This record gives sequence, structure tokens and C-alpha cells, in this order.
Amino acid sequence: MQVERELKSKVSFVAIPICKDARSLPKLGKVAKERDVEDGLRKVAQRALREKAFAGDGGETLPLLHPQPRRIGGFLLWGLGEKEKLTLDSLRRVVGVLARSAAKTSAARVAVEMTSLQDVIKKWGADTVAEVLTSGWQYGSYSYKEYQTNSSSPGKPPNLVLLTAGLSPRDERLVRSGSSQGRVVADAVSWARDLGNAPANALYPDVLARRARTLANGRRVSVKVLGPAQMRRLRMGCLLGVAQGSSRPPRLIVIHYRPTKKAKKTIALVGKAITFDSGGLSLKPAKSMEEMKFDMCGGASVLGAMKAVAALRLPVEVVGIIPASENMVNGSAVRPGDVLRASSGTTVEVVNTDAEGRLVLADALHYARRFKPNCILDFATLTGAIVIALGGGVTGLISNNRDLAAQVYAAGEDSGDRVWELPLYEEYVEAIRSQVADIRNSSGREAGAITAGAFLSRFVGDTPWCHLDIAGTGWSSRERSFAAAGATGAGVSLAVAFLRGLGT
Ligand code: BES
Ligand code: MN
Ligand code: ZN
Repeated sequence: MQVERELKSKVSFVAIPICKDARSLPKLGKVAKERDVEDGLRKVAQRALREKAFAGDGGETLPLLHPQPRRIGGFLLWGLGEKEKLTLDSLRRVVGVLARSAAKTSAARVAVEMTSLQDVIKKWGADTVAEVLTSGWQYGSYSYKEYQTNSSSPGKPPNLVLLTAGLSPRDERLVRSGSSQGRVVADAVSWARDLGNAPANALYPDVLARRARTLANGRRVSVKVLGPAQMRRLRMGCLLGVAQGSSRPPRLIVIHYRPTKKAKKTIALVGKAITFDSGGLSLKPAKSMEEMKFDMCGGASVLGAMKAVAALRLPVEVVGIIPASENMVNGSAVRPGDVLRASSGTTVEVVNTDAEGRLVLADALHYARRFKPNCILDFATLTGAIVIALGGGVTGLISNNRDLAAQVYAAGEDSGDRVWELPLYEEYVEAIRSQVADIRNSSGREAGAITAGAFLSRFVGDTPWCHLDIAGTGWSSRERSFAAAGATGAGVSLAVAFLRGLGT
């Protein structure tokens, strides 16, 4: 990502944004209008539109190569979709598509002339547009290649160059600041994706804790890691109960960010990090187990959010709390029917060892209360039921507080990291009552995503709290036009947008 006023060196393509059914090209910027470019490419691009070789659909791209490339290798016609339907969210996605189609070529640099986006800049401001371009590009370019030894896999993804020639000095400044903010958030998302994509043999609780430690930074960010002995001292029976079937010890990771000036608000972010979920004795069938290395994506989202919060130096105090464990089977594994005692004192009948996420979160949510946060957000790949209800495009939200739910919803709309609320009526809390203990960790299939939320609600007291079930959004089994398959980093930009929206 670079911001340049004039083109400093060669670019493979200038991207030309085109809305659906545009009859003619948009006003070209200075670079695309350079004589030797314009003579050839403009006419070809015009013809492509006239002859419907390119319609401008969102997600459509068409490379046009200049026969005698000099400073500019060609145009990359870039469909934005219907003009009236263009939102920041759809713009972010088509930027991702643009990045992915450029990455399929050997392009090293792709330029966008900001003047060719005058309309959207007028609507949303140059900073927001630059932020969306920068982050959307990085989201689209991301791929996880850690374990691919095959050298034929594509190399470094191309860079995006934002050209500001023709903008006012003020807008030019806004492009620079917007772009650097976009970069911070996208770096955090990429990190969360890397953590999510790592296989479970390479990333287990202690490794996650070591990754978290890299965030530590003087007085601003401190990282504390609790092991089994400290958990026992804190009577975290639920977290320990889940972990007891694994040979890898659990970790409770606590990351504390303090802004320079004493903050008025403290927010707790809690993230489920089951580094592998076999289901335990309530073993998952093979098909359902295949992707369970991703069951730590909630924890990864919290790590990503903490990284961004610290880099942006947001004026709120934020505590990230990540219960990390495997859910495995051995001779000491927790059994269906066992009763565990959470650190809050609440007793829990384990009717299904595969409902482990809510167990580790019980102790983590209770731990969060010691910071007296103004609110708690938790991120968790908690239920298959939410995938059935909402699919892969939107995160499920369950809350005990109307205002907080509305704020988180708004942050979802702003960031494109969308959420939709499910209700939390008293009857769902009643449904998890147990015959032998205070509550049970499953009440069957009915309203499965909500009863899981109801379970969590028992551990937050009256702290305003919002649960985000990212089981559907946390990773994608297949590649999409704007993103690679695998972990998505869902929750990172949501959390950042929420925290930014709090003000001081
Ligand atoms: N990690 C799973 C939830 C999950 C399932 C995430 C599919 C993504 C895709 C969670 O630990 C789990 O197994 N939940 C059970 C709960 C049930 C036993 C009450 C589920 O959803 O089936
Ligand atoms: Mn499970
Ligand atoms: Zn799980």
C-alpha cells in the first residue's frame, strides 16, 4: 500500500472503476490520460463497454494490456456494480476482487487514481474511501502459504498505489491518514487469519500464549498468562474440566491495554480459543471434526483487535481475555454427566462434552468481571446452530443490554463485519436448568445458538454484555471472489469499529 501524488515508478495496471451499464468510461485521471496510454487503451476500453465485453458488475474485472507498455502496463477495468447500490461494504468487497484478479497476473503494482472515485469520495470522505481501499485490498490479497512448499504457487501479491494528483491538499492528507488506519486494521485481520489457519499440531494453547506475548509493549500493553496451577487457585473448574482430556495444558491469556491518558471506559474482550475441538467423549463425526482447528478463531479475533487497538492508540482501556485449551479425549477426559464448578461458584452438569466453548468462556467471563468493565464482548465459534440460522455472511449477536446491542450492530454496519441479533428471553435461561446441578451445558437442538448465549449470560452478572457467535463467519470452507478460503478474521474490524465509536 502506497500513497503517491504523481506516479513514481511503473505500474502494471491502472484500475478504472466502472459502474454497471455505464455507457462510457468515467472521467479518467491524469495518469490514465497520459498521451501514449490514452491513445490506445481508452479506445479499447470504450469498445469493451460498447460491445458488452465488460458490463461493470460488482466482482467483474477485465485486464486490457497496452501493446507498447511504458510507465503503464495497461488498464484493469474494475466493475463496481450498480451505482445506487454501492455501499462502503460492497466497495470493500470489489476492492478485494480487484486485488485477487490482479494477483492472478504477474502485476507488481496496481494504481487507483483517487480522482476517478470523486463520487464516492464526496459521499463518504477521502479518509474513509482510502481506508476501505487499503484494507479491502489487503483482505483480498491475503493467502496462507505457510506450509506450501510448491514454488509454483503465486508469489508476492501486487501492491496498491493510491494516486492523489488532482485532489485538494486536505483530501490528500485524508487519503494518507485513512490509508494508514486501513493498514493497521488489515494487518490485525491478517494476523488473526494466520493464527486461525495454523494447524492444531503447530498452534496449541501454549503457542497461542507465546504469540500473544509478542503484543507486550512497555507500559501500554501487558500480557499475563495463567497456567493450570493458577487456574486451580482461582477454582476455574470449567476451563480445567475441558482441558483435562488433553496432554497439552490450558492457558488463560490476559492482555491489558492502557491508553496514555487515563481512560473513562474499560472494555473487556473475551475470545474462545479451543485450538482443536474433537468433541471430547461426545466425539464429533469425522466430517464435523475436519475443520476444528478453527475453533480458536474467537481468541484470534481478540488478539487481532488488541493489536489494532494498541497500534491506533485508542483512548479506551481494553482487556483481552482468552481461555485457550484443546478439547480432546484420554483416560482423564471429562465425562457426560460430570459436574464441574465454575470460578463463579455456579455448578454445571456436562451433558455433552462437545459443548465445551461455553464452559471455557464461563470462567473467562467471570474473570473479566474483576476488571469492572463497562461492558464485555465475547467472540466465539460457539454453535453449529448459528451456521444454520444465519449462514456464513453474518455473525450472531446475543446481548443482555439494548444500548450495547445497538452500538455493536452499528459497528457491524460501519465495518462490514456484520451482526444480527437473536433474542434472549427468560425461557432460554430456564431451558438450561439442570436436575443435578445449577445449570447444564446443553439443552438439545432447539434454539441451540440462543441457549448457548443464555448459558454465557449466567456468568456476566449485570455487566452489559454482548456475545458474538462467529461459528459461521470465522472461516470459510471455500474460496470467495474477494477472499481466500480459511480463517476470515471476523470480529477484528467489528471490535475495532465498536471501540473507535466509544470516543473518550
Ligand atoms: N466448535 C463447535 C461449534 C461449531 C460447529 C463451530 C460447527 C463451527 C462449525 C462447538 O464446540 C460445538 O461443538 N457445539 C455443539 C454444541 C452442542 C453439543 C450443544 C454444536 O453446535 O453442535
Ligand atoms: Mn465442541
Ligand atoms: Zn468448539
